[in-house]
Amino acid sequence: MPLEKHFIIVTIDGGAAAGKSSTARALSERHHLLYVDTGSFYRAVTLYLLKRGLTPEDTEGIAEALRDPAIATRLRGREARIALDGEVPDAELRSREVNEQVSRFASLGMVREFLLDYQRGHAGFARENGFDGLVMEGRDIGSVIFPDADFRFFLEADPEARNQRRVHQGEQDSIAERDRLDTQRKTAPLVCPEGATRINTTQLSLNEVISRVSEIIDNPRS
Ligand code: DC
Repeated sequence: MPLEKHFIIVTIDGGAAAGKSSTARALSERHHLLYVDTGSFYRAVTLYLLKRGLTPEDTEGIAEALRDPAIATRLRGREARIALDGEVPDAELRSREVNEQVSRFASLGMVREFLLDYQRGHAGFARENGFDGLVMEGRDIGSVIFPDADFRFFLEADPEARNQRRVHQGEQDSIAERDRLDTQRKTAPLVCPEGATRINTTQLSLNEVISRVSEIIDNPRS
């Protein structure tokens, strides 16, 4: 009788434009995993709050706005998409205004708390939808959301290489400023989780990064 496949959780953390999304998307394809981009969750919450005229200082207004909003997950191909008051296209989630504000909203404990169980719930969502596991990318996934994940990776790259990647993607993004805020915040700061595999992607092609990560997933005890 064939052995039932073990459901795996893979986490990928790292700063902005370190190569997380491209790597995670490729892994989801190769290992039949649900792909979850938690940055898009923080972006969706940021947009939702900005649309209500709120700034990161309006803590009472934010608490009120996050009390009971309609939040769901939709499956698009292999990707889990957040629907917070409806699904929002990527162009809006990655606008300059959201790029400028997202780290500020993400530093608020109440915003992180709001997304905590929602993020963990994706393990169940992946099972229900027949995936062999999930790959979740973000800043605190291996440290806070799934510290017991089967495989935890931390990607980093030199600032110059990361800026080049954003320019190629046609985005206006202050990577250094976001990383500074993400690293210095009190709640769930960006860190390399203890025991995670650290990979510097500066000199590596995307295929090389994917091969290294996949090799570890395919040979867990080597
Ligand atoms: O991955 P990204 O660049 O789209 O993330 C946008 C912002 O969201 C990032 O600057 C910080 C925040 N974020 C976070 O605080 N925790 C996560 N797990 C993912 C993103």
